[in-house]
Amino acid sequence: MLKICTIPGDGIGPEVMDACLCVLKRLPFDIKFISAEMGLNPYKQTGEALPKETIKIIKEADSCLFGAITTPADTTNYESPLLRLRKELNLFANVRPIKTISQKIINKNKITNKNLNCIIIRENTEGLYTGLEDEDGDKITTKRIVSKNACERIVKYAFKYASNKNRKKITCVHKANVLRKSDGLFKKIFYDIAKEYNNINTNINADDCYVDTAALLLVTAPEKFDMIVTLNLYGDILSDEAAGLIGGLGFAPSGNIGDKYSIFEPVHGSAPDIAGKNIANPTAMILSSAMMFEHLGSPKIGTLIENAVIETYRNGNITTDLGGRLGTKEFADRVVEIVERESKKLSK
Ligand code: NAD
Ligand code: IPM
Ligand code: MN
Repeated sequence: MLKICTIPGDGIGPEVMDACLCVLKRLPFDIKFISAEMGLNPYKQTGEALPKETIKIIKEADSCLFGAITTPADTTNYESPLLRLRKELNLFANVRPIKTISQKIINKNKITNKNLNCIIIRENTEGLYTGLEDEDGDKITTKRIVSKNACERIVKYAFKYASNKNRKKITCVHKANVLRKSDGLFKKIFYDIAKEYNNINTNINADDCYVDTAALLLVTAPEKFDMIVTLNLYGDILSDEAAGLIGGLGFAPSGNIGDKYSIFEPVHGSAPDIAGKNIANPTAMILSSAMMFEHLGSPKIGTLIENAVIETYRNGNITTDLGGRLGTKEFADRVVEIVERESKKLSK
């Protein structure tokens, strides 16, 4: 039996999580879901956005699904519980696939008519995300950390991933023309590891690109990218930009992966502008769960879920974010029908 911690969170988090769980409960798999709290609810009740109990549940589970949380805008001393989890559980790799899910989406997508399939691998524990900000009069200094160890493990992760998934090229995205030492180190380590790796496996090309140019290329020639490996903040920004190319944030799943623990979540946030209206697209959340099954060694279940989502769109079911009529629940119901049908075939 699989033990999965589920953290719905705030805003549209609980809506997309409910939709996802409707789908997962139809799988031919014995799964125990353990719900845990994080975000505004526990923060308002106890002053603690990440209860100890939640960390315990995540650690005892095989993996974790997370919806989204709201960061209160008026609290300067607030530490994001999500960032804490990424650091404390050493979830050093943030894997963010940018994949067009169906021709039907391309037809509705006003941004591009390209069929994309790229992976962004984002360093997830340091960079500008140290939370270390010093105030001295009217000057605030933020500490940015780029360590050899973190660079090596994220770059090695990217090459291993490329090799397992038969990817052809990894682009290192950095700003080494300005951040000469820190990003310079990241770039150097990237090429060192590329060289080492290509002594064993010669078909992964390695190149690099400044982050500003990468932002441009994502708009003008996104097909140039096969895989991107990059530092924390660049990965955050580029993955939202890239999500725009595949239909929007409602289509971008992700995994926070470490050696011991993992948390799968949509790239999007709590979307207060659409919360409570049953119009959030649950695709990113459902696809995040597909990534989780693959990570847990059940790629067939992952593919079953992904294919069910693809077929749902192929059948012309479109959510409101792309001008369609289906709400969060209604879209999930269509996916459930296909998952039920395919699960029956698997259990035979
Ligand atoms: P957001 O990602 O919540 O929303 C950006 C835009 O995308 C909004 O217009 C929203 O309606 C739309 N959108 C997002 N998800 C969607 C979906 N599934 N279906 C359809 N449309 C969707 O970013 P924001 O508005 O800048 O931030 C809102 C809050 O979320 C903030 O408090 C922020 O800190 C937080 N946040 C949390 C996470 C997370 O929990 N992982 C990630 C990003 C932002
Ligand atoms: C994301 C989010 C987070 C980040 C925020 C909510 C702290 O934007 O997961 O992309 O910046 O990493
Ligand atoms: Mn983000």
